[in-house]
Amino acid sequence: MLQALSGKTLPRPPVWLMRQAGRYLPEYRALRAEAGGFLDLCFTPDLAVEVTLQPIRRYGFDASILFSDILVVPHALGQKVWFEEGVGPRLEAIEKPAGLDRLSRDGMHEALAPVYETVRRLSKELPPEVTLIGFAGAPWTVASYMLEGGSSKDFAAGKRWAYGAPDDFQRLIDLLVEATGDYLIAQIDAGVEVVQIFDSWAGIWPEEALRRWCLEPAKALTARIQKERPGIPVILFPRGAGLLYRDFAIECGAAGLGLDTTLPLGWARDELQSRLTVQGNLDPLQLVAGGDQLTQAVERILNHLGQGPFIFNLGHGIVPETPLDHVSRMMEQIHAWNASERRA
Ligand code: CP3
Repeated sequence: MLQALSGKTLPRPPVWLMRQAGRYLPEYRALRAEAGGFLDLCFTPDLAVEVTLQPIRRYGFDASILFSDILVVPHALGQKVWFEEGVGPRLEAIEKPAGLDRLSRDGMHEALAPVYETVRRLSKELPPEVTLIGFAGAPWTVASYMLEGGSSKDFAAGKRWAYGAPDDFQRLIDLLVEATGDYLIAQIDAGVEVVQIFDSWAGIWPEEALRRWCLEPAKALTARIQKERPGIPVILFPRGAGLLYRDFAIECGAAGLGLDTTLPLGWARDELQSRLTVQGNLDPLQLVAGGDQLTQAVERILNHLGQGPFIFNLGHGIVPETPLDHVSRMMEQIHAWNASERRA
């Protein structure tokens, strides 16, 4: 994984899956049933370490992603966050601009201390060849949950702020750039070897807004990590950024770019992989459906991107209904593939 992120082309690419710890695993569901609330699971190092290791044991992924959630940051800034069974995340939506004044970075590291402890334990327990990835949500994606009070279909609350009161919205984004940078640096100091920044909802903006609210924060965070913790690779995942993926590749200075499922592979190879390491981008629902179409899709990705610096992954998180044996078969196929024998 680290070699791939340094720009090397490997005989077979490293592989991990976004959201690889989670409800598709029976061992996760069993532990989850005992853990109480989802945030309790994230903030109990014994359990978070165990859940992080489950997919590594079962499938032998090349990288392990810290088990936590992007919404621990609003929680640590003082916003009320909870997870409702069958609904997903809920937050006490902040009101502008008074709600902004109630957020504070003062107690942040204290609130996130259990996450850092989880990282310290993982970096001792993981086999040395398995790379430990830390992560955070990108400022815009986290802000969208903070303003909507949960998941959203149209992101109307965030868009209304951004278009109607851009100075207030900028204050929130700036606060999140600072807090996210502090958080990622603390994860690095605790032992993560790579960080990924998830901008799951980058794709809802027109060009200018996407630059201001997604690309600029990504650039600032990457620059800060490079300056303060040189040598730690950053992977950006601006899901849905479309043609602007190229601007992320050119302008942000990241080591890697996570491709979403919609990006054409030939374009990604020519326009992105010539500039940095790419990661992705199997459709998680192809992994659910399985069969020949899955084999062909995996082969097509390997053949297009396996001749350059590449990390195999999904184009978005694995979904709970994914059959376990589809993941096994995909892993066997990737392990059997060899770059020198194949051409796109
Ligand atoms: O294995 C891993 O990837 C590490 C853990 C991880 C989780 N969430 C655990 C989780 C990571 C990296 C995330 C990131 C995350 N969380 C994102 C960005 C990536 C993406 O998928 O777009 C976002 C937008 C969130 C916010 C979030 N957390 C939502 C929308 C939900 C509910 C939907 C869902 O999948 O349940 C969560 C809950 C959540 N985060 C679960 C897990 C395992 C399921 C909670 C449960 O077990 O009840």
